[in-house]
Amino acid sequence: MSQSRPAAVIVLAAGEGKRMKSRTPKVLHALCGRSMIGHALAAAQDLAPERLVVVTGHGRDQVGAEVARLALDATLVLQEQQQGTGHAVRMVTEAVGAIPGVVIVTYGDMPLLRSQTLEELASVHQAEGNAVTVLSARVPDPTGYGRIVRDEAGMLARIVEHADATGQEQAIDEINSGCYAFDGGLLADAIKRVANDNAQGQEYLTDVIAILRGDGHRIGSVIAADAGEIEGVNDRVQLAAARRVLNDRLLKEHMLNGVTIIDPASTWVDVTVTIGQDAEIRPNTQLEGATTIGQGAKIGPNCLLRDTTVAADAELINIVSRQASIGAGATLGPNVYLRPQAVIGDGAHIGCHVEVKKSTVGPGAKVPHLSYVGDATIGAGANIGAGTIFANYDGVRKSPTTVGEHVFVGSNTVLVAPVAIGDGGYTAAGSVIDSDVPAGDLGIARGRQHNSDGWVLRNREGTRSSRAARRARSDEGSPQSAAEGE
Ligand code: UD1
Ligand code: CA
Repeated sequence: MSQSRPAAVIVLAAGEGKRMKSRTPKVLHALCGRSMIGHALAAAQDLAPERLVVVTGHGRDQVGAEVARLALDATLVLQEQQQGTGHAVRMVTEAVGAIPGVVIVTYGDMPLLRSQTLEELASVHQAEGNAVTVLSARVPDPTGYGRIVRDEAGMLARIVEHADATGQEQAIDEINSGCYAFDGGLLADAIKRVANDNAQGQEYLTDVIAILRGDGHRIGSVIAADAGEIEGVNDRVQLAAARRVLNDRLLKEHMLNGVTIIDPASTWVDVTVTIGQDAEIRPNTQLEGATTIGQGAKIGPNCLLRDTTVAADAELINIVSRQASIGAGATLGPNVYLRPQAVIGDGAHIGCHVEVKKSTVGPGAKVPHLSYVGDATIGAGANIGAGTIFANYDGVRKSPTTVGEHVFVGSNTVLVAPVAIGDGGYTAAGSVIDSDVPAGDLGIARGRQHNSDGWVLRNREGTRSSRAARRARSDEGSPQSAAEGE
């Protein structure tokens, strides 16, 4: 369907959202990595309207800031008091004048509405030459919604709000979504004639339909194929339900693009995440923000990745990661914490209980067990022994550590930064290394061992230890055990 860009999309977002019971304005509550108003703006932006207008009221500063962040060119119109949807649109025409052309009106609290549905609405509107085209839906329980009243010919006659509806009208199961395509010129004129003599004492935008029809204009409607799309979010129960629907929609898209998702019920992805073909996402995994998963990578179970890049064929088990990057074929986990600017090289291994912060781990290098790596550069093929700590902080400032290629750091080494170990260098287990180890040297920094002969026999007489020691020491003297010892 080819069509021209709409002249404007108006997003209504002045309402308070009392039922959220929140200090945060309703439309700033997020699902799948984007605020509700963000979803509304994204759907609007897909239509490439010449003008994007957002009506704000409650929490105007916060909502305004979010709109400015996501749609720099959007016009904010303030509706000081929420006197109804018609009043909100009147504030727009009073602020910016009549907008000639197609004007779409939608809500900031309808995050499941797809841009394709808005496009279809605009397209039918233009094809039929309507003054207004209403997006409606058939629902099993129409309670609370405005009802679509049709004449004998089946043409849309008017919309009656639930509070104003007769018993007969309340039985109608076709409801008003709250989304419309208008002729902007006719809207600007009709909106001035909307009264507030109704059950709620509000200016209803819905009254514009009967006004335009009374003027003899064409009124049309599009019935939404999926009534779920037009469900608004008013409380946190509905927010959770909408999040589930949106997440399922995103997962389905990924699966159809060739991603294996073992357990969709426990997998959560943001709209901004990309996943390569043949990647496998395992149970209990959350992928957030600008996270990118390469082809064939295996993520999970139990991973939380935010703004993290994972290259092809890497495997991650039990990982928390923020702003990190992981090379091709690297293996991580279980239980790894990657903090900002952790860069893990191709084929590297980061093992169990390891934390990495602002460090580069070279290709094929290994940090397999129980380590903290901070402000470090680790060369290709280096092996960092169990329990090694990069002591990067002296209480005042952070300092860097450099570990060369194919270095072997012995278990339980403390590398006191700033310090460097040259290529191929070694450190002895248990060393506290606070000066550089040149390439090829072995750094040893620990007390020499001294055994106090028979100390237990003298000082722990009568204990099990002392009896065991006595037995062992007498056995040592016997010719049989001496032979075995050889
Ligand atoms: C409205 C429609 C109803 C429709 C329903 C769909 C009217 C009179 N009724 O009812 O036919 O079935 O939506 O959800 O239009 N808003 C403002 N300023 C206001 C009032 C509302 O910006 O003064 C915004 C709200 O923030 C919200 C949207 O408009 O995003 C809808 O407002 P709401 O009060 O929820 O309308 P309903 O009474 O549910
Ligand atoms: Ca509502």
